[in-house]
Amino acid sequence: MTPTRLEITRPDDWHLHLRDGDALASVVAHTAQRFARAIVMPNLKPPVTTVAQAEDYRRRILASLPAGSRFQPLMTLYLTENTPVEEIIRAKASDSVFAVKYYPAGATTNSDSGVRELSRVYAVLEAMEKHELPLLLHGEVTDSDIDIFDREGVFIERHLLPLRERFPVLRMVLEHITTRNAVEFVSSAPAHVAATITAHHLLLNRNALFEGGIRPHNYCAPILKRETHRAALLQAATSGDPHFFLGTDSAPHPRAAKETACGCAGLYTAPAAIEFYAEAFEQAGRLDRLEAFASFHGPEFYRLPRNEARIVLERSPWIMPDEYPLDGATCKPMRAGESVAWSIVETTAV
Ligand code: NCD
Ligand code: ZN
Repeated sequence: MTPTRLEITRPDDWHLHLRDGDALASVVAHTAQRFARAIVMPNLKPPVTTVAQAEDYRRRILASLPAGSRFQPLMTLYLTENTPVEEIIRAKASDSVFAVKYYPAGATTNSDSGVRELSRVYAVLEAMEKHELPLLLHGEVTDSDIDIFDREGVFIERHLLPLRERFPVLRMVLEHITTRNAVEFVSSAPAHVAATITAHHLLLNRNALFEGGIRPHNYCAPILKRETHRAALLQAATSGDPHFFLGTDSAPHPRAAKETACGCAGLYTAPAAIEFYAEAFEQAGRLDRLEAFASFHGPEFYRLPRNEARIVLERSPWIMPDEYPLDGATCKPMRAGESVAWSIVETTAV
């Protein structure tokens, strides 16, 4: 029989967009209610490229938290072709920066400062390998002649395999994986190569982009893939394999920026993030493995302690609001106006 109550160690989100300013203040509580820590993406405008900027951003996040919250933002640096090796050394010495993010220039929201040619950052990657600072990869090529649904697979073949050969002990996370190809690459790699999986890629396939018409709120980067890939991701997430852990990639945009002729990529899943993962694991008949995926494998990879606090989920449906405030505008969350199967009924802070 499927359990209707689930008590797990408080989870962490290993890939999150919190934005800045008033938008940050609008969204951070959703994550802080569910997760103890989150790896915070650096794709602000301008991007967070230095430890000093990351520390300022961290202070702004802490100042936006609801009173009494113990949520810990784990900061990242945005890798550019001008990132100096010294910045890696500063990052390693800091107690606030936990990883460096690689965006191929032009791949997604605010990625213009990203890397055009991987060989231009080899010296920095060498320093990261030496100092054991993880590289978080947005693993897609951006070439316009490559079919959008193939961009992750081509990235693995063209860039990731050679990168692993060149930097054999570089700690890497292939972020928000979307394909069977990525599952195969990561599951056969050593333990210092891992992957995050989003709730939306576990619950939706690419049909969700065109259900009775175009659905801009289901558009994200990397784009949703066909059902066979979703099934491979669900299998990987629920397999118990420590290579795979939770990263929501919750990425809020104002409605007007998504409901337009050229809409932004990103799903806002933070208001029900762990609840959505519970649905996916329930679907696979593997609720017993949610805790390891959500609360154990991430800290193990990042060499951080597990959380001591716990949360309790119950199978008690609620209706997701149609929209939430976002910096004077509104943002439509995943599942807007529809039912979410699981609720958080209790959290214990330690
Ligand atoms: C992210 C965003 O909006 O910042 N969008 C997305 O679709 N995931 C950027 C990213 O992680 O690619
Ligand atoms: Zn992201």
